[in-house]
Amino acid sequence: MEYKNILVEVENNIATITFNRPQVLNAMNMETALEFGNAIQKCKDDDNVRVVIVTGSGDRAFVAGADINEFKGKSPREIMKFTEAGHSALRLMETMEKPAIAAVNGYALGGGLEISMACDVRFASDKARFGQPEITLGLIPGWGGTQRLARLIGMGRAKELIMSGEQVTAQRAYEMGLVNRVFPAEQLMDETRKFAEKLAGMPPFTTKMAKYAINYGYDLALDNANSLEIQCMSQCFSTKDLEEGVAAFLEKRKPNFVGK
Ligand code: COA
Repeated sequence: MEYKNILVEVENNIATITFNRPQVLNAMNMETALEFGNAIQKCKDDDNVRVVIVTGSGDRAFVAGADINEFKGKSPREIMKFTEAGHSALRLMETMEKPAIAAVNGYALGGGLEISMACDVRFASDKARFGQPEITLGLIPGWGGTQRLARLIGMGRAKELIMSGEQVTAQRAYEMGLVNRVFPAEQLMDETRKFAEKLAGMPPFTTKMAKYAINYGYDLALDNANSLEIQCMSQCFSTKDLEEGVAAFLEKRKPNFVGK
């Protein structure tokens, strides 16, 4: 598949996917959603990719939401296809065995905030703005915003943002627990890459087990979730990387993980 609306670059085991429609502040149309889903599937399948960074082109926007131009005259069934395309790409990213990091370089509104929330970690520029403005257009979030926002920051704050459509600054988003770290705009990509390199250097199967236990344990009763953790933790003992990590600690040296 040739991409018209996103850029994909792989370097040092890190894939960077950049939404690239600056003329509409990287708003998501159907074609972009399908390209994004395709790119995530490729990153998932490629053993050379250990971490995915998602960002927006230019210095104004991560993604300013769904492309509102595509809403005019659409039937509920047509819109359902669009919401399903978004959900399927985001769930693929959220559940793939490698980490995804959102580098939020500007507006993360509507679908933009929803994309960032399906990433495992969110880093933001101090110029970023976050919000779910859908209500001001007469709709509600449709790419997981009503669900992931409440899970990330609690129901009260999720309702505050979704019912008001208000934007919050990166600093406020940090205080709410919506973003992990905030950096001056010019440092965002360097800091994100540094962190991505750190994650890429971790043993991949162990990373997979960690993500799996957190993702799938979250909605279970505690006893079931703990049991899942026991299974995942025990599986780590099937890897060469565990032997290496333990040996390196005991020999007081840095581990050299080989991904086995
Ligand atoms: N869909 C389609 N086009 C969009 C867009 C979107 N979600 N967001 C921005 N654009 C377009 C604007 O129409 C404008 O195009 P133009 O230059 O041809 O007029 C261009 O991007 C720049 O945006 P503009 O509104 O002029 O910039 P601004 O600095 O005044 O405002 C925002 C920035 C992000 C606050 C404003 O663009 C906005 O509110 N966008 C919509 C956000 C939204 O509701 N998203 C959820 C959709 S469900």
